[in-house]
Amino acid sequence: MSSTTGPNRRVLSGMRPTGGLHLGHLHGALNNWLRLQYEYDCFFFVADWHALTTHYEDTSIIAPSVREMLVEWLAVGINPSAATIFVQSDVPEHAELHLLLSMITPLGWLERVPTYKDQQEKLKERDLATYGFLGYPLLQSADILMYRAGHVPVGEDQVAHVEITREVARRFNHLYGREADFEQRAERAMRHLGGKQSRLYADFRKSYQERGDEAALESGRALVENHPRLTMADRERLLGYLEGVGRTILVEPEALLTHTPRVPGLDGQKMSKSYGNTIGLGEAPEAVEKKLRTMQTDPARVRRTDPGEPEKCPVWQFHQIYSGDAVQSWVQEGCRSAGIGCIECKQPVIDAVLKELQPIRERIIEFTASPGTVDIILSEGRDRARDAARETMDDVRDAMGLEYR
Ligand code: TRP
Ligand code: SF4
Repeated sequence: MSSTTGPNRRVLSGMRPTGGLHLGHLHGALNNWLRLQYEYDCFFFVADWHALTTHYEDTSIIAPSVREMLVEWLAVGINPSAATIFVQSDVPEHAELHLLLSMITPLGWLERVPTYKDQQEKLKERDLATYGFLGYPLLQSADILMYRAGHVPVGEDQVAHVEITREVARRFNHLYGREADFEQRAERAMRHLGGKQSRLYADFRKSYQERGDEAALESGRALVENHPRLTMADRERLLGYLEGVGRTILVEPEALLTHTPRVPGLDGQKMSKSYGNTIGLGEAPEAVEKKLRTMQTDPARVRRTDPGEPEKCPVWQFHQIYSGDAVQSWVQEGCRSAGIGCIECKQPVIDAVLKELQPIRERIIEFTASPGTVDIILSEGRDRARDAARETMDDVRDAMGLEYR
């Protein structure tokens, strides 16, 4: 309900280049992106400046990871003719918008974002008491608002960042979205609604602005959006006037939370580079096989004859992702009765993971061997991204009164 120009089909998402991708990324974000790229106008970017906020002391991992990440995206099927793929620092407008937004963002909003304290706790070995790290969510807001994205596919941990983005957009529009004669123009637009509709609109507006009545806000929006005879500009004005804000310059995005399976790491914790429990997308089959063969199982099964409990075993979580009903019942039954051994139980998982990774690995090798192809994809992506970014920045500078050169 954030877009004022019909249904917003723009999707934006990014990933930090801090090392190779693994099965957690594939089943979390990437499979989702693969679907989205054919249904939406997708922009996917490598968030290299975001990586700097935590890796500023030793930046050596960033450059190779940018390349590696792009190759891995391409290898899993992110399609540069369907989606725009680019690197954040190739579009310096992100830094400009971040700076401009920083002027209007209260410190408290950033200090209250849960990831701020969480990450500082979690990554104790790094000094994250920096200006840049505090601004992490705001840089993300700039990424999102730059492309006027309606939808941002993210994991649970990132929802707060989309939320703050909405608040920042609202504040920006409130501060700078006013035309000099906004009120008169809005009142004039109201008359175009027609007598009865215009009275309804006024009632909805009053209920929302005086009592915070969300239902009235929704009804008012529906009235405006479904009205057959409004110009685009009048529609925007009336939507802004309804909420008590001005014209929409920056579009409020929504988090697109898709249910994705949680891939356990080899030790049963969440799969994550920092826990050293990953299976990389480009890893050699022998290494993958060895990792799975030696991965943790239910600790109660010390001997082959001890019965186990799948719910306490990370291998079972893999079965839930990779195996059909028949194999799943075989595991449940065989584990609890000690009818099967753990090595036996792991075999279908090993087979499925190897089968899934094989074509990806082949394509990683292909793309790695032709850096020129990746260069072309990158430069096309950069051009498309910059075009969109320039358009937004023109509006932003204009709204802020910065076009005085
Ligand atoms: N913060 C995101 C993460 O760690 C990465 C990111 C940066 C991002 N900018 C973004 C995600 C914009 C979505 C939209 O996963
Ligand atoms: Fe885990 Fe399978 Fe062993 Fe049971 S039999 S403990 S599910 S690996």
